[in-house]
Amino acid sequence: MIDRRGPFGIRPATPEDRAALSMVCLRTGDAGEDATGKEDDPELLGLIYAVPYQVGAPEFAFVIEDSGGVCGYVLGAADTMAFQRFMNDEWFPPIRARLRDPGADAGLWNGSDWGRRVVHEGWSLPPVDLARYPAHGHIDLLPRAQGRGLGRWAMEVMLGALGAQGVPGIHLGLSARNGKALGFYERIGFRVADPPGILDDTVFVVKALGRAVM
Ligand SMILES: CC(C)(COP(=O)(O)OP(=O)(O)OC[C@H]1O[C@@H](n2cnc3c(N)ncnc32)[C@H](O)[C@@H]1OP(=O)(O)O)[C@@H](O)C(=O)NCCC(=O)NCCS
Repeated sequence: MIDRRGPFGIRPATPEDRAALSMVCLRTGDAGEDATGKEDDPELLGLIYAVPYQVGAPEFAFVIEDSGGVCGYVLGAADTMAFQRFMNDEWFPPIRARLRDPGADAGLWNGSDWGRRVVHEGWSLPPVDLARYPAHGHIDLLPRAQGRGLGRWAMEVMLGALGAQGVPGIHLGLSARNGKALGFYERIGFRVADPPGILDDTVFVVKALGRAVM
């Protein structure tokens, strides 16, 4: 355990946490709300947005847990271009082999087809200045862990690890429908990227990192 706060602890994520990463991702995957009812493949959100970080960038992958088990994570990748290559060249191909491609017409998608399409199409680079903000990350907490200061704390841990490696900045993507997350990010020092590149439904926020990150 790296640190504790009341009943909550934060520690590096391990391979044994992969099912929990997927569970948290699913239960927060609809613009911050539970996506269980929307997805027909309960694994896919986690296989795109959570599990590969524990595999490809474990030094910046942390879980938050309490007596009930893992209740959140914060995940980062220091070099988004390198991580995109990992996703497209190593991570997606074996998953692609067992998923049908629903095609490019979003009007024909149902359930988890959006995710099947991501797996087949591959990951695009975000429309942000990757020289200034080369890292990216994800944070998701289950409802029982929200609103207690744990999000700020977990981000401090992850951004501290990135800053200690000399990473100059980070960007995060969030659903344009997730106003709560935008309020949180702005409160902890992120700002909407300028120009505010929007890819599909995703808004990007950025933050420069130094030794003192918050
Ligand atoms: C978004 C999320 C990570 C925030 O974590 P959290 O633990 O609930 O937030 P914290 O309690 O640490 O809040 C940190 C600060 O942000 C502020 N804040 C939180 N939500 C806010 C909001 N919607 N608007 C303005 N400020 C907000 C808090 O008041 C607090 O301020 P302070 O530290 O100056 O007192 C968490 O609620 C969550 O995982 N939500 C569901 C999944 C999700 O939306 N993830 C983001 C996907 S992009």
